[in-house]
This record gives sequence, C-alpha cells and structure tokens, in this order.
Amino acid sequence: MNTLAGKHLVLGLSGGIACYKAAELCRALVKTGATVQVVMTDAAEHFMTAVTMQALSGRVVFTSQWDSREGNNMAHINLSREADAIVVAPASADFMAKLLHGRADELLSLLCLARPRDQVPLIVAPAMNREMWSNPATQRNVAQLKADGIHVLDVGQGEQACGETGDGRMLEAEEILEDLQAFFTPQILLGKAVLVTAGPTYEAIDPVRGITNLSSGKMGFAIARAARQAGADVTLIAGPVSLPTPRGVKRLDVRSARDMHAQVHSQVGQADVFISTAAVADWRPDTQAEQKIKKDGSGKTPKLGFFENPDILASVAQSDRALQGALFCVGFAAESHDLLLHATAKRIRKQVPLLVGNIGPSTFGQDDNALLLVDANGARELPFASKQDLAHDLIADIARRL
Ligand code: C5P
Repeated sequence: MNTLAGKHLVLGLSGGIACYKAAELCRALVKTGATVQVVMTDAAEHFMTAVTMQALSGRVVFTSQWDSREGNNMAHINLSREADAIVVAPASADFMAKLLHGRADELLSLLCLARPRDQVPLIVAPAMNREMWSNPATQRNVAQLKADGIHVLDVGQGEQACGETGDGRMLEAEEILEDLQAFFTPQILLGKAVLVTAGPTYEAIDPVRGITNLSSGKMGFAIARAARQAGADVTLIAGPVSLPTPRGVKRLDVRSARDMHAQVHSQVGQADVFISTAAVADWRPDTQAEQKIKKDGSGKTPKLGFFENPDILASVAQSDRALQGALFCVGFAAESHDLLLHATAKRIRKQVPLLVGNIGPSTFGQDDNALLLVDANGARELPFASKQDLAHDLIADIARRL
C-alpha cells in the first residue's frame, strides 16, 4: 500500500540550505505517484532555483501571491483547496514564527493560513542551526504550533552546514518520505506493540568462519516498517544484515540463533503481536574453536558435528501469554516447493494461528515476493508485489485478527 500514490501535495520551501534536500524530497514524492505543487518563498529562491523545482515536479512553481496565471488572482485559495496536504520542508525558524502569528505577507504563509484546517493538514519539517533550534523562542513556537494542530516533524542530529554539530538539521528526504507515508496510513495498530525478527542468523565455527543462509532481512524489515507506519510500537530483532533501520523502529542486532532466542524472550513480554520472519539456522556447530582452525597441508578436513538450535517461534507460541490469547503469533515458512502443503503442516507443528508461506529461493535478496497466508480456515494468496506492499497487506490482515 503506497499511501502517497494519487495524493496532491503542496511542497513549500522556505529559506535554508536544506532546500537541496527538498529537491530530493520532491523527486521521491513524484516517484511514489503523488503530484507535487511547489511553492517557494523569496528566501528559498536564494538557495534553490524555481527552474530546478519545476523540472523535478513537472509543474510551474509558484513564488508570488500576485501570480497572474490564476484567473481569479487567488493562488493562495486555489492551491490550498486542491491539496491533500501542505508540506513545508524546509521550515525555517522565521517561517515557523510567522505560522505561529498567522502572518501572511507572502504566498506560502498566506496559503498555510488560508487552508481549510479540517481538510488540509499542514506538516512542517524544521531546518535550522542548533542554537536557533534550542532557543526558547523556537521551542515555544514548536509547542504552540503542535497545540494549533500543525504536524511538526522531528529534526535530525549531526553536522550542520555552518560547521557546528547538534540538533536542528532537516531530516533526510527518505526520512520525511517515511513520515509522510505513515501520516497517510490508517492507524490500525495504534497502541499495539509488535515484535518482529528478521534476517538470517550466523553460527560461528571459529572466529572467522560460520554457517548462515541467504535471507536478506528485506521482508522482515518491510513488515517492521509497515507495522510502525500503522501506528504500532515496533521492536525489530535483526540477524546480521546490512539494511537501514526503518524510521521509528527500535532495532536490536543479534548474531546467533541462541542470541536471537534470548533477545526475543527478553522483549516478547511487552508485545501484543510476534512476527517471526527470521530465517533461523536450524543447527549450530557443536563446538566453536577459540582460534582459527588451520589447514595444515595434510589433506585432513575438520569434522563438524551439530546441535539443534532452540525453536524460537514454537517456544513463544507455547508461552502463557500466547496460549491465553494475549499475544498473537505469526510464523513464516520459506519453502522450495509444495508451499500450501508445507505451510499448512508447519502452522500446525508450530501451533500458530497464522503462518505465511513463501518460496525461499526465488525471494531471498529480492525486493518482490508473493505470500500465502495459511490459517485454521484455509489459505489466501497475496500475489506477486513489492515486499513493502505485501508487508502493508499482511499488517492489515493481522490487525483484522486482533
Ligand atoms: O521450521 P522452520 O525453520 O521452517 O520454521 C520457520 C518459522 O519458524 C519461521 O517463522 C522462523 O522464524 C521460525 N523459527 C524459529 N526458530 C528456529 C527455526 C525457525 O523461530 N530455530
């Protein structure tokens, strides 16, 4: 579910070096299928040209309230009536102060003031120097803007264009995009805590070698992101993968199946839903050499024996809270053939209400997948789509079951 597709957004730029990120944001929004009408203040035009924003948005940019292109000469009314939301990024300290006072001496603040508040939400992404951000005047303004129903996004932390380091830089385009996706997502898991495992595990043979599998973690990360966007409080326990943490998700990294087992059991007490997406290694070497096992040239090979790893999902599904219905457990099955047969058998063996089957070899590492949802009543297919879209559909399915 791409919540931005088909939406019409006014993207307002006020003055700040973060205007370069607004160019990326504009491009990313258009890519999702949203239409973007850019409006720039005078100050913004010192940092970015309207030509660039026109090229990226595919629409003529508005910079003046006296723009005679509008038949009625009321750009502020027309633009704000057409929009599904107004997003001001970057929102400078001065621009936020103007919003606070209801000032309207140029087009962007004018259309923010003129918008129908119950139909057109206003979202601002602050961008400024750390001293400006922490100044009591700005903090007062932020608190009052929130009280007035304006959605003020977080600021980023780190090195700033001025050379100082601290809070106040604008979020990256990708982060704002995730926040906007979440903003338009129905909050079907609001108030719920969701625990997700993702990725492979790694079972060490010695300090430099180990056994793992081809799971990329993409499906589990997409599920964590979808749950978060649906309003849940999400904890993601990840095996060794190189994926960015979805916005707003608490991530705990683990390596082996036993680490994952311990971490899951330390977190699951607070969860309402447990989604076990991880491809947990079934076995681990029965010994782990402290030092690298050396090839000695004799042709002798090391003998590997194995212990079975704990079954994390089965152990959680057997916990009191799961048995009493306070914790909803979802398993995954990565199969190579006979998906329905194996997924049905696995659901019964793991004793979970919902088991999600997929064809492992064709989906490992890919951005697309197809899922088969198996419960006590039968099976339902979620056909081939992006993992993110499938994750949203799966979360919607789970929310209906709670
Ligand atoms: O038995 P199999 O590995 O195919 O089961 C897959 C499901 O069980 C997945 O949901 C996986 O996360 C979970 N699992 C687990 N602990 C294991 C093995 C699998 O939680 N040791």
